[in-house]
Amino acid sequence: MITGGKKLDVHVVRERFPALNREQDGRKVIYFDGPGGSQVERGAIEAITRYMSEGGANLHGAFATSRETEEILHRARVSMAAFLGAEADEVAFGANMTTLTLAISRALGRTWGEGDEIVVTEMDHRANVDPWLLAAQDAGAKVRWLPVDADTLTLDLNDMNSVINGRTRLVAVNLASNAVGTVTDVAKIAERAREIGAVVAVDAVHAAPHMPIDRDAIGADIVTCSAYKFFGPHVGITAIQRQVFEALDVYSLEPAPNNIPDILETGTQNHEALAGVSATVEFIASLGGGETLRESIANGMETVEAHEAELAGRVRAELAAMPGITVYAAPDGVRKTPTIAFRVAGRTPLEVCEYMSGRGIFVAGGDFYASTLSGKLGIKDKGGFVRAGLAPYNTEGEIEAFLRAMRELVG
Ligand SMILES: Cc1ncc(COP(=O)(O)O)c(C=O)c1O
Repeated sequence: MITGGKKLDVHVVRERFPALNREQDGRKVIYFDGPGGSQVERGAIEAITRYMSEGGANLHGAFATSRETEEILHRARVSMAAFLGAEADEVAFGANMTTLTLAISRALGRTWGEGDEIVVTEMDHRANVDPWLLAAQDAGAKVRWLPVDADTLTLDLNDMNSVINGRTRLVAVNLASNAVGTVTDVAKIAERAREIGAVVAVDAVHAAPHMPIDRDAIGADIVTCSAYKFFGPHVGITAIQRQVFEALDVYSLEPAPNNIPDILETGTQNHEALAGVSATVEFIASLGGGETLRESIANGMETVEAHEAELAGRVRAELAAMPGITVYAAPDGVRKTPTIAFRVAGRTPLEVCEYMSGRGIFVAGGDFYASTLSGKLGIKDKGGFVRAGLAPYNTEGEIEAFLRAMRELVG
């Protein structure tokens, strides 16, 4: 829901991203590859550099740099708790979303057995599918799939009440598709899962840079994301409901404390990156403004969403009107991220990406590990999609340059 607030000043935003100064053939490059990883905000870069240049340390030392490091870790938890709508001690960090999900799936899977079932979706990135499939295989649990409606590019929930049934122990679903941008009504699925006491694991990696996230409002027990998608460094983050987290039978190692959230954090954390995580959250909060950090973040994300929706709506409409272009998007009225998937008749996605790259416009091609979806759409073996993904630093001028290049390509 976009409730208004400040309008995004894209020029102010752009000043915060040094990488936007990169040039190719005398022109600024255009980054439409945000869904693969956004550019990094200056405050995050400076926080990382500061940590590494002013003295870092490990935890539990009786000296200044160690105490400062503990403070950095604590601030990162507080920041991400505000970002996801959780408590600070429900937030754990790891290498990336996939690694965290693998660890969580190992722990949850230990409590499953024959007769139990889990539910994954045809829409999801394999990072929120394969760890659960492996855990189910090890436990002898059955896997059920929530299908995608290939026409609407939304999850087909008609049979949800039989797919999610009394035997279901876990439902894994994404908040938004990193391939086609569909935002899923996770709250509706979670409501059903809760009726029968299944754990709900939500992959918010793609949603996180584009919309406010409220873990409890969407009914997630576990929500995961990755800071390199929302203008920060490479760190995976999860926020797990206290009761679920405390009950989680994590493979615990001696160097990790036996309490939440540290129990999930094996080995020394990426301290410099965690300094950057707090900074990127502060940047997002600065786009909004409000009484609390959480409120400022939510307002900031609404501002971002409004800016991106306007640009993306135009790109989708103008692309769809060009000859030989198929846009893969949910119908009007379905909430979407500004991630636009399409194909061009007679050209592979890679050819389109190379053509664009020659013009300094960075778009990506492939199935982006949404491989079940691309298989269902019959394009998995044909190079998948071209994906133009917008970010808050993209401008009207950039989408005009992109659309101009596309018109030249299709003639
Ligand atoms: C929707 C989605 N889920 C999961 C992942 C994997 O995240 P990570 O690289 O942090 O493991 C990605 C990465 O692109 C993604 O887009």
